[in-house]
Amino acid sequence: MIKSFIRTATPLFLLTSIFLPTSSANDALAQGKASYAVCASCHGQQGEGQKLTNSPRISHLSSWYLTSSIKKFKTNERGYHASDTNGAQMKAMAALLPNSKAINNVVAYIKTLSSKKALDKIEGDPVKGKALYMICSSCHSPDGTGNEAMSAPQISGQHGWYIQNQLKAFKTGLRGTQKGDATGAQMVPMASTLIDDKAIADVVAYIQTLK
Ligand code: HEC
Ligand code: HEC
Repeated sequence: MIKSFIRTATPLFLLTSIFLPTSSANDALAQGKASYAVCASCHGQQGEGQKLTNSPRISHLSSWYLTSSIKKFKTNERGYHASDTNGAQMKAMAALLPNSKAINNVVAYIKTLSSKKALDKIEGDPVKGKALYMICSSCHSPDGTGNEAMSAPQISGQHGWYIQNQLKAFKTGLRGTQKGDATGAQMVPMASTLIDDKAIADVVAYIQTLK
């Protein structure tokens, strides 16, 4: 039954793909949308993120950072540490995207999403956090929107718990310590300027005030 379906369906598919005029941009988006079906189960239909699965908001991120972070999960520069259970989940998902084309297509589709969901906030002192953020602003920009020239992603517009998780991950060697990960390595000493969990919560509280 399935075999006969494939036998009849395959030539039809080939014919339509050869003879029907299609726009390659639309094809790329359609393929990206199909790939995104699995991503939505954790990141949400609109890329809004979901605390239950520790999955960040991704709808607001720039294409260059989406691409680079998916590649890092694929090449073991993220999700490599035995204690990094969140990273390990995402590493398995990145492995489902077979090549750069598949990554570009899913990124193009993510860029069509717009999450309206309110951001989850964590408790902290934004006044103390503002002073701690001084050093961060040189790369992530004063408003937290990031700077591609520095490979520094947008950090505003994200759920507080995810920013907190990442700062802890950089501090404890779960992220940014793989050979070859030059941009992740830059964040390790930066996370270490936040001396304890209170300082992390305070800087996150300040980032949460950025628009
Ligand atoms: C099983 C749940 C799950 C699925 C399915 C999933 N992800 Fe993720 N994803 C995560 C988690 C958890 C993280 C955060 C990892 C961490 O904390 O380091 C993440 C992180 C990311 C990041 C990095 C965001 C950042 O700010 O650095 C991107 C980009 C991403 N996922 C894209 C995708 C795409 C594209 C798909 C579909 C191919 C996908 N994810 C499927 C759980 C998932
Ligand atoms: C020297 C430049 C630089 C400085 C200063 C810097 N960062 Fe970063 N940061 C980066 C880069 C580059 C990345 C991307 C790492 C990667 O691609 O894995 C990053 C990533 C991050 C992430 C992860 C974002 C995500 O979506 O996963 C957070 C959170 C973050 N930085 C917060 C901070 C905070 C808070 C400070 C100040 C204490 C700071 N950074 C200072 C360069 C910098």
